[in-house]
Amino acid sequence: MPEARKEEVLAFDHVTAGYGNAVVLDRLDFSLQRGESLAILGRNGVGKTTLLETLMGNTRVMQGAIRWQGADITRWPSHQRVRAGLGWVPQEREVFPSLTVEENLTVIARLGGWNLKRVYDFFPRLRERRGNYGNQLSGGEQQMLAIGRALMTNPKLLLLDEPMEGLAPIIVEELSAAIRRLCESEGLASIVVEQHPVLALEMTHQAIVLERGTAVHAGPSAGLAADRGLLEGLLGVGIAEDLAR
Ligand SMILES: Nc1ncnc2c1ncn2[C@@H]1O[C@H](COP(=O)(O)OP(=O)(O)OP(=O)(O)O)[C@@H](O)[C@H]1O
Ligand SMILES: [Mg+2]
Repeated sequence: MPEARKEEVLAFDHVTAGYGNAVVLDRLDFSLQRGESLAILGRNGVGKTTLLETLMGNTRVMQGAIRWQGADITRWPSHQRVRAGLGWVPQEREVFPSLTVEENLTVIARLGGWNLKRVYDFFPRLRERRGNYGNQLSGGEQQMLAIGRALMTNPKLLLLDEPMEGLAPIIVEELSAAIRRLCESEGLASIVVEQHPVLALEMTHQAIVLERGTAVHAGPSAGLAADRGLLEGLLGVGIAEDLAR
């Protein structure tokens, strides 16, 4: 069978970016092919969130270019990027506390394949909680709502910043299965930032490891997951307990 033709959907081309005059990402290079998911790994403060913020247009790009589906989007405002298919699930979830689940979902909806019914079918728990306010939800429910809200904008690429942070193991299982399903059956690409490398590598095709804003490793997730020595060397001692899972 001929190998499926690879098609680049996203590329960071020597991107230097940060806040004010402070450089956080330093000539960062990577690309993502259609239908692929990418894990962004690295210790605290290396620039993982800044990478996603840069992709969304919320930082200052000093050098380099960002390409999305063939267009140079480096100078695009963030609302235009959302319209072009970038779906952002922020690290703090940012669920509106004084709106109900249903209001949270409909406030930023855009026409497309995803609508309220499909989000509720995908996360039945959100349907049960449709009348609850954002501040009455558990951490797991808030994360489902944050993902559901991104889906309502009908994205082509889902950006997830530490989606499992602070959640109980059973919820982590449920959510990681849901995220995988979004990629496998719904054809969504994803970029997942995670503190737990094993979990992130299980959920993705490709991985990059950041150190001080630059990629020190890039390659298939399965290969990195299988090479515990390399993984420990790249991410340090803090991952011992994660490897024991
Ligand atoms: N809004 C901001 N203004 C100025 N500096 C910032 C801002 N946000 C982050 N930084 C700095 O950029 C660097 C990278 O931070 P970033 O949040 O991207 O790291 P991270 O890898 O996501 O860390 P964590 O694992 O703790 O979430 C840090 O030195 C941080 O202090
Ligand atoms: Mg972060």
